[in-house]
Amino acid sequence: MTTDPRPRVFVARRIPAAGLARITEACDATVWPGELPPARDELLAGVTGCDGILTLLTDRVDDELLDAAGLRLRVVSNFAVGFDNVDVAACTRRGVRVGNTPGVLTEATADVTFALLLAAARRLPEAADHVRDGAWRTWDPLGLLGVDVHGATLGIVGLGRIGQAVARRATGFGMRVLYHGRTRASAAVETALGATFAPLPELLEASDFVSLHVSLDDRTRGLVDAAALARMKPTAILVNTSRGPVVDTDALVTALRDGMIAGAALDVTDPEPLPADHRLLGLPNCLVVPHIGSATRATRDRMAAMAADNLLAGVEGRPLPTQVNPEVR
Ligand code: GLV
Repeated sequence: MTTDPRPRVFVARRIPAAGLARITEACDATVWPGELPPARDELLAGVTGCDGILTLLTDRVDDELLDAAGLRLRVVSNFAVGFDNVDVAACTRRGVRVGNTPGVLTEATADVTFALLLAAARRLPEAADHVRDGAWRTWDPLGLLGVDVHGATLGIVGLGRIGQAVARRATGFGMRVLYHGRTRASAAVETALGATFAPLPELLEASDFVSLHVSLDDRTRGLVDAAALARMKPTAILVNTSRGPVVDTDALVTALRDGMIAGAALDVTDPEPLPADHRLLGLPNCLVVPHIGSATRATRDRMAAMAADNLLAGVEGRPLPTQVNPEVR
C-alpha cells in the first residue's frame, strides 16, 4: 500500500468549486458530503491526523477539536469573515494558523443589510403575502403603511468594513448616519461617509434604524439587551446582519411584542437555525432570513478561493494571505 504524500485535510462542507477543486488537487482531502454540518463526533473523527482543516461558522474549533486533530495540524481555514466559532488563543498556543475571508463579502452583506432595512420599513413581506393571499382588492390610502427610509437617521454599531459599506448606501438614501464603535474613525473616514460618532446610548435614542456590524466576542455578546432596546424609539427598527448573540433574544421578543420598538429584521439569530416554532417567528413585526449575508454566487466563489488560499498556504507552513493570528509564524 502506498501512502499519499500530499497534506491531509478535512473540509467540513462542500464549498464552491472555485476553492474546492484546488484543495482536492493539492491535498489528500476528505470533504464532508452532508448538507448539514458534521455532528461533533463526526467532526472530531474527520479531523484526526489532519495537517489542515477548512471549517464553517457551524463548526466549533476548540481544545477538544485541536486535541482530536493532533500534532500535525498547522492551519484552520474558516470559510467566513467572522471567526467566533474558533478559539483563536487555543490555536495560537499550539502554533496553528487561523485564516478567515475578509473583504470579499463586504458589499454582499451590506446589500442584504439594506434589503432587510427596506423590507422592514416598507413591510414588503406582508405586502407580498397580501397579494399572494388574494387580499389585494384596490389601491388603499390606508393600507400597508410603512415608514420613510429617506431622511431617516441610521445608527451603525460597528464601523468596520461592512458598517462602512452600509453607511455609503445610507448616504445614497439621504439618511443621516450616526455610528458607534470601539475606536473612533479618522476625520477623513467620517467626512467621506458623512457619519457622526455617537456614544451608544445616544445612538440608540436618536436612530430610526439601528444596524449591527460588530464581531461577536465577550464585549459584544448581549450588547443589545433589554436596557439597550428600552432606549430605542418605539418607531425604530433593529437590523442585525452580524451575529445572533449580539442581541439578547428574549429581550428582543419582549420589546417587539410590547411595542418598545416597531420591528426587527434579522439575518442572524440566537439560536441559529431558529426553530420553526420560535417566538420570534410568531411576531408579525419580525422579519427573519437564514444567514444569507454573503449568499451570492460570486461572493461565495471568492470566499472559497480565499479559504483555499489560506488552507494551502497553511499546510505548506507559509503565512496565510488573511491570517487572524499573525503571531504564529
Ligand atoms: C458570515 O456570517 C461570515 O462571517 O462570513
